[in-house]
This record gives sequence, C-alpha cells and structure tokens, in this order.
Amino acid sequence: MKLAPSLLSADFSCLHEEANAVAPLADRFHWDVMDGHFVPNLTFGPPVVNALRCRLHLPFDIHLMIDHPGAYVSRFDVNADDTLIFHIDAGDPPLAVIKAIRATGARVGVTLRPKVSLDVLTPFLDDVALVLVMSVEPGFGGQSFLPGSLARIAELKRRIDDRNVEIAVDGGIHAGNVRDVVGAGAGIIVAGSAVFGAADRLSAMRVLLEAAGERR
Ligand code: DX5
Ligand code: ZN
Repeated sequence: MKLAPSLLSADFSCLHEEANAVAPLADRFHWDVMDGHFVPNLTFGPPVVNALRCRLHLPFDIHLMIDHPGAYVSRFDVNADDTLIFHIDAGDPPLAVIKAIRATGARVGVTLRPKVSLDVLTPFLDDVALVLVMSVEPGFGGQSFLPGSLARIAELKRRIDDRNVEIAVDGGIHAGNVRDVVGAGAGIIVAGSAVFGAADRLSAMRVLLEAAGERR
C-alpha cells in the first residue's frame, strides 16, 4: 500500500518543513482544499499548493472539497503523477470536471461523502484513475473512522473489477484499523492526525506501515 500523509494536520506555519519531515516514508502528499461552502471549513488553495508543488518531489493528491471544482482545476500547476480529486456532487456535471482535469495533465480522481451512494460514481469508473473513499464526513481532521467504510471499500473494489483504478481511503485511519482498511481493498492510505499528531512523525508512520503489514 501507499502512504499519503494529509498536510491538513501539519503545522501550517512551516508546511514545507512538515512535508520534508514525512517525505522519507511517504509515497504521496495529500492536500485538503476547502472553500467554507462545500464543507464548513477553510484551508488553502492554488497559491499555497502551487508554491509547495515547486519545492517537493513526491506526487500530490489534491482533494478538492469545493463547490464547482471545474472552474478551479486549471489553477493548479500539476504534473502527470499528481491527482486532482473532485467531489461527485459539488455542483458541476462530472464529465465536465473530468474533462477539465484531463486538460491540466494530472490524473483524475473522484470522491464522495459517506452518505452518497456508490451508484452515483459507478458510471464514471472508466474515466478515473483513483476513487477516494471518505471514511469520515469531509471538513476536519481527527474524526473517528465510520464503521460502514470497510464494507463500502470492499463493494467499490468489486465494482472496479479489473479496471486500473486505485482506491484511496481518507479519514480516521490509525494503527488499530489500517490493516482492515488495506485488507478491504485500499491501495492508498491517507493519514493526517495519526502522522502529524505525533511528535516523531516518522516513527508514527513506521507504526502505521508495520500495522498494515508493510516494511520499508
Ligand atoms: C477530512 C480530510 C482528510 C483529513 C484526514 O476532510 O479529507 O484528508 O486530513 O485526517 P485524519 O487522518 O486525522 O482523519
Ligand atoms: Zn482529504
């Protein structure tokens, strides 16, 4: 599995240092962009993410918790290994957002809130590289993993079938549940507070990886 630390739980006064501190054991960086409308919280947008894109060398997964994502995706300076992830019910026709993301050159990712049925995104499985399963209500770090998420991951994996679509899981993941999350079908584990809530970020990541049965 791949580990994607979520910078939402990092110290925003030194994001570059925080990202560098976790880079040795990270596979990707997860960036939570929030607009105060789609979710009741505000974080950072393209100027901050782009400034860090220039200075970091791992791929970015940019999780857009914003209304009308189609209007904003072109503002991110992304590479072919990065993913722009939009919420399926954020007000734009999904195919229009998918087209706009493709035009940036980045990978297309889609996500949905825990209460939104998987049926809504199934028609787009041929058009995306990644599906992000939200295992908490989006908006804040440090919440508890919603119990129905494991069955949802397994059901999504079944629907993906033999397509080349990665499953990422986001919210409430820690050493006590990461093995089950991976076992259910997650290929990318997003972890915010489990990494940045620890004084020693790399040890916390090692604990997560070992709990998942990984060694590196
Ligand atoms: C929640 C965000 C998550 C968040 C996860 O809206 O999408 O990426 O950072 O944080 P933890 O791992 O603390 O639940
Ligand atoms: Zn996220």
